[in-house]
Amino acid sequence: MDKLVIRGGNPLIGTIRVSGAKNAALPAMAAALLTDEPVVLENIPDVRDIQTERKLLESMGAEVELGYGRAHHRTTLCARKLANPEAAYELVKTMRASTLVLGPLVARCGVARVSLPGGCAIGARPIDLHIKGLERLGATITTEHGYVEARAERLRGNQIVFEKITVTGTEDLMMAAALADGLTVMENCAREPEVADLAALLNKMGARIEGAGTSTISIHGVEKLHGARHRIIPDRVEAATFIIAGALSGGDLLVTGCDPHHVTALLQKLEENGVKVRAITSDTVRVEGDGALHASDVTTEEYPGFPTDMQAQYMALTTQAEGTSVITENIFENRFMHAQELVRMGANIKIEGRRAIVRGKTPLSAAAVLASDLRASASLVLAALVAEGETIIDRVYHIDRGYERIEEKLRGVGAQIKRIGEMLPRRGIAEAS
Ligand code: UD1
Repeated sequence: MDKLVIRGGNPLIGTIRVSGAKNAALPAMAAALLTDEPVVLENIPDVRDIQTERKLLESMGAEVELGYGRAHHRTTLCARKLANPEAAYELVKTMRASTLVLGPLVARCGVARVSLPGGCAIGARPIDLHIKGLERLGATITTEHGYVEARAERLRGNQIVFEKITVTGTEDLMMAAALADGLTVMENCAREPEVADLAALLNKMGARIEGAGTSTISIHGVEKLHGARHRIIPDRVEAATFIIAGALSGGDLLVTGCDPHHVTALLQKLEENGVKVRAITSDTVRVEGDGALHASDVTTEEYPGFPTDMQAQYMALTTQAEGTSVITENIFENRFMHAQELVRMGANIKIEGRRAIVRGKTPLSAAAVLASDLRASASLVLAALVAEGETIIDRVYHIDRGYERIEEKLRGVGAQIKRIGEMLPRRGIAEAS
């Protein structure tokens, strides 16, 4: 199992490039199940969740061709025949977003079998809203042996009001409704940019979707969808992670290839923290982290609020801000696992239910720490960049789920970071890089 070894203290200076959004790529790949023609997706990030999704789609009978060389980030998917419309537990358990195939499969094949995801590191994460929505579209649902089975000869358009805002739930049902008979109007939808990106792809495939990116989405079902070519939007969580890295390390960083509008909530927050940060072009944010950081409270919310996926990284920053910051996690229960590892590095953090109280600034010192989930591991990388000494982060496979070559990218702007395999002897950074 790989580990990351990071020696803190270097300000990050230079230009760092953001990859395509994992959370837009995953539903886009699932959308390819809706047609028997090829769908070409560009700007697909080279991360482990994408490989998992590839395996999942191939297990159903879809052909997935990954680009290489200059076309490295292009993926062509063709679901000509889907002999096995099923998502097995082995794959769903490693990636909850596998449930995104439920809607497309039942819409295209009339039947879908998807394993229930079970608990995961950041709380219960049920899929009841996906199921209720499909029932509203006329599917018959049974749950047996840990699998959800959905059946419908053809789904029928209907009105769906989400009891709670759900990102993949909105995406799953939007895909299902695209091939349903008649009009579906969904209310209280997620407004995340990834939802709008999926709708853009579906419309290129011949769907008739309006309002994606707002809380009401209308979908006029069509009989058939066709192939299309689409470029995935940049990853706003990766961009946010680098922006925070620039601020925290006291660097001068250009985060490029991103969409600054998608990180507005973070940029506003960082200004409150005293960070000089601004969009300098339509795809580049400059962050200068040379001033003192001030504490600021934050509450995670659905988009366009402050994202839960940036909470862990922001917590790393608040450990270095003067004063007390209160971080409230509203979206997921149990999403503070990184806090105890940050405390082991010297942070002063108290957890009270859904609130984390961070008292700064306390010096951080290197320690052996454990990555517990994707964004928690990013938070540990950030803390390690400013900690004194050499931090070793174990269970790096979590970070590989959603960050493309993070150590190479950070090394490119001056971080002392390297990856080691378990079998390799531990060596100092200077020797190995
Ligand atoms: C997506 C993102 C994830 C992000 C999350 C919230 C992808 C692949 N993943 O996850 O990175 O952290 O949005 O921004 O895009 N809920 C239910 N019943 C359901 C579905 C959800 O109760 O059927 C609850 C969840 O437990 C959670 C809340 O709704 O408390 C929001 O979850 P949701 O938006 O569905 O998250 P995901 O789509 O899984």
